[in-house]
Amino acid sequence: MAITKNQLEKIEFYVCAKLDSLNWQHTQEMRPIAKKLAGLEKADKEIVDVAILFHDLGKHTGESKDHEKRSGEMARKYLEKENFDQRFIEEVVYCVLVHMAGLYNQGHLITTPEAKVLHDADQIQQLSEFGLVKNLINYGADIYGNYQQGLVKTRDIMFKGYNLILTENGRKMAEPGYKLVKEFFKKLDV
Ligand SMILES: [Fe+2]
Ligand SMILES: [Fe+2]
Repeated sequence: MAITKNQLEKIEFYVCAKLDSLNWQHTQEMRPIAKKLAGLEKADKEIVDVAILFHDLGKHTGESKDHEKRSGEMARKYLEKENFDQRFIEEVVYCVLVHMAGLYNQGHLITTPEAKVLHDADQIQQLSEFGLVKNLINYGADIYGNYQQGLVKTRDIMFKGYNLILTENGRKMAEPGYKLVKEFFKKLDV
């Protein structure tokens, strides 16, 4: 289905108003990555883009746990209210609901090209300067408690993200970011 510029801008406005700045930045930076990967993986770019906009919206509560379920519900509610095509809604909601499956060792649940692209773009975007900022904030308490161990923990979480990538094309795209992260921690002697 062809989504109009106006429909897309309305979603952007809705999500941006609810998300914190860090997660909005993450969402925005994922979009060009996903667009490129969707081309390579022959995924539907509109489904991917709308799913990306909604995928972390469930974090608007400040809670990360189960955010994919909240994001899925919010996406469904919004898209149904705006009279989007039912098949389009199901595809978008599915992408959103499974985007954390890799992290729970259930990557096999991610089956459509669109869901794979969203999942991989989520990881690729975080192998970056942005990802370093985000993860150092997230694990700040560990670093305060034990500098060396906290940094090792942060590094390993970021490496795990790289290992979760499902597609060959995604892995290739993640390579420069992975190198950046590796070198960053190497300079810190961890
Ligand atoms: Fe997420
Ligand atoms: Fe995300």
